Amino acid sequence: MPDQISNVLERVFESADPSAADLEFLLNLEEHGEQELIFEFADDVRRRYVGDGIMVRGIVEFSNFCDNPCPYCGLNKNNKQVKRYRLSDEEILESVSKIAACGIKTLVLQSGEEKNLEVGRLKQIIAAVKNDYDLAVTLMVGERTCQDYGIWKQAGADRYLLKIETSSKELYDSLHGKMSFDNRIKCLNDLKELGYQTGTGNIVGLKSQTISQLAQDIRFFNRWNFDMISVSPFIPHPGTPLGNEQRADVGLTLKVLALSRIVCKDAHMPATTALECFGSDVRKKAFRCGANVIMPNFTPDTVKKLYEIYPGKRSIGDKQNVIESLKQFAAELPGRFIDTSRGDSLKK
Ligand code: 5AD
Repeated sequence: MPDQISNVLERVFESADPSAADLEFLLNLEEHGEQELIFEFADDVRRRYVGDGIMVRGIVEFSNFCDNPCPYCGLNKNNKQVKRYRLSDEEILESVSKIAACGIKTLVLQSGEEKNLEVGRLKQIIAAVKNDYDLAVTLMVGERTCQDYGIWKQAGADRYLLKIETSSKELYDSLHGKMSFDNRIKCLNDLKELGYQTGTGNIVGLKSQTISQLAQDIRFFNRWNFDMISVSPFIPHPGTPLGNEQRADVGLTLKVLALSRIVCKDAHMPATTALECFGSDVRKKAFRCGANVIMPNFTPDTVKKLYEIYPGKRSIGDKQNVIESLKQFAAELPGRFIDTSRGDSLKK
């Protein structure tokens, strides 16, 4: 059996478009020793293709207003329990200054998806950041028109994250009410064509999601040659329609992460904060099966806990001295180190 697993791993690694059958075979392995073979292979690919640095991205969650009904997300528009906030330009720039003061060279600006977010306002914020600091700017504000994406690119935005959540149109459309899978694909296409370093990702463990769909997610990441890929475990949020569902299986989540690394090779891949819900060891484990990015949170403490995508969301940036705590974290991962440089895409 170990030989067979090694052969399949080798085939998946070598192939430009790995077969669904091979990916499903690997995703279905449940025995500890068998899973470890996948994780070790992924760790080796990670070391060879993206190195030992843990890339740092400072994130500011500048608004938790959202117009979307995503039934897994605590910020969905139907959740009336959430106290909504919107940071002012000054508050955003104050958080950005803290990121810059730490020597971190990537800023991620994230918010719920709000039609009300004026294109010109975000444009000005991007321009101010680019003018005042030497920072790569990553946006994560959802689906917009190609024109809006173009204006922000023009203003200096470098990267954009838009998770597909699931590459199955059927599952996507069954979850998202009036939202459309096809529009999300269009947005990803627009972002790529505009020259953004583009990231996507999925949620593992969604209600009625199959192994076959997860295998297709990995093939989707690969076919689009994404610069960044984020794999999150589903964590039920009590204020949402999926609040009573099971949370994701941790082993399955790590297998999806590891296989995404083995297939997509040099993509940047965060250890998502949602993994912390399984304990800090799991976050650490993610860095040994493919992850190479960490995203400390610089949202002001006054509103941080209101950005509750899933319950119990925490981040490594909660401590006073962010870089020091990141270094302590990395010290527990032999051979690894904290890298605050821009960490642009490694894709050709
Ligand atoms: N569990 C895990 N991840 C979630 N997200 C939203 N809700 C949840 C949840 N309950 C992820 C989605 C979204 C990102 C901001 O957070 O992938 O794109």
